[in-house]
Amino acid sequence: MRTFELVVRSVTTPTPLIRAFELAAPDGSPLPAFTAGAHLQVAIPGLADPRCYSLIELSPAAGAFERYRLGVRIEDASRGGSRFMHALKAGDRVTVTGPKNDFPLHEPALGEPPVVLLAGGIGITPIASMAAALKAAGRPFELHYSGRSRDQLAFTDELAALAGDALALHADDDDATRLDLGALLDARRPNGIDACHLYVCGPKAMIDAAIAGAKARGWPADNVHFELFATAAPVAGDQPFELELRQSGKVLVVPADKTIAEVMEEAGCDPMIDCKRGECGVCSATVLEGVPDHRDYVLSDAEKAEGKLIQICISRAKTARLVLDL
Ligand code: FES
Repeated sequence: MRTFELVVRSVTTPTPLIRAFELAAPDGSPLPAFTAGAHLQVAIPGLADPRCYSLIELSPAAGAFERYRLGVRIEDASRGGSRFMHALKAGDRVTVTGPKNDFPLHEPALGEPPVVLLAGGIGITPIASMAAALKAAGRPFELHYSGRSRDQLAFTDELAALAGDALALHADDDDATRLDLGALLDARRPNGIDACHLYVCGPKAMIDAAIAGAKARGWPADNVHFELFATAAPVAGDQPFELELRQSGKVLVVPADKTIAEVMEEAGCDPMIDCKRGECGVCSATVLEGVPDHRDYVLSDAEKAEGKLIQICISRAKTARLVLDL
């Protein structure tokens, strides 16, 4: 992946909480191509880690990309990323790395049933690009976009023009349109080999519900695709626990508001980390003692029940002490 500088060409406000940005090369030269579902890492001054934002492309065309488009929601508990982005104005410069796609569309199959695209809130950004890519490829899809209220749904005019009748807008505060995930999944219950593919992006609660609902209805796990926007966040009731790293002989305390990986980094360790969302599997560690509190999307149910592995970027301990083979 390349790291390079882009200039902010325009900033718009599609909803009160979301800003959309057009970024271009300072000299106007073409930008690296990407496919639907890709994201860009944006360096945030003062923060060690970049922030990942999905690329929006509603008019995919072969060849060069002359600008990138991002949508960023201001987060209530922003640690600096969305605040920095929302302060950007035309002419400002940002340093980016990418594009990278961890959430690609599957290959088309002859006679495939419509792909089900489900977005919650700012999760619309990769999902919108997927709708555009599917449409451009002549592949059937349906697009469900849900938010707390109708005025929090972004890009709706463009999405309506793109998807037409395939677009369904859902608002939590409207009984008539509130998303009924169970009914949606029931209506597309897999039938033999014709299970459709489901793509979900949005809040963790929506993703967890979609994964659990699809699984309960016999959806093949390989047909359920998702991307979380959030990294590990404390859950009510989280407790500190003692962490022993048996190989390095370190004994640390993991407070309620930090992850195992963060505490290790603070202690001078260099754990293998990538997504920080429990999705990629890179940070897997062996548990020698204690019971993990699994919060990842990597380990199977059987592996979670066995308790021998843990994803240290997101999972915690159910016991007061956890010993890892690190
Ligand atoms: S860093 Fe990706 S699962 Fe932990």
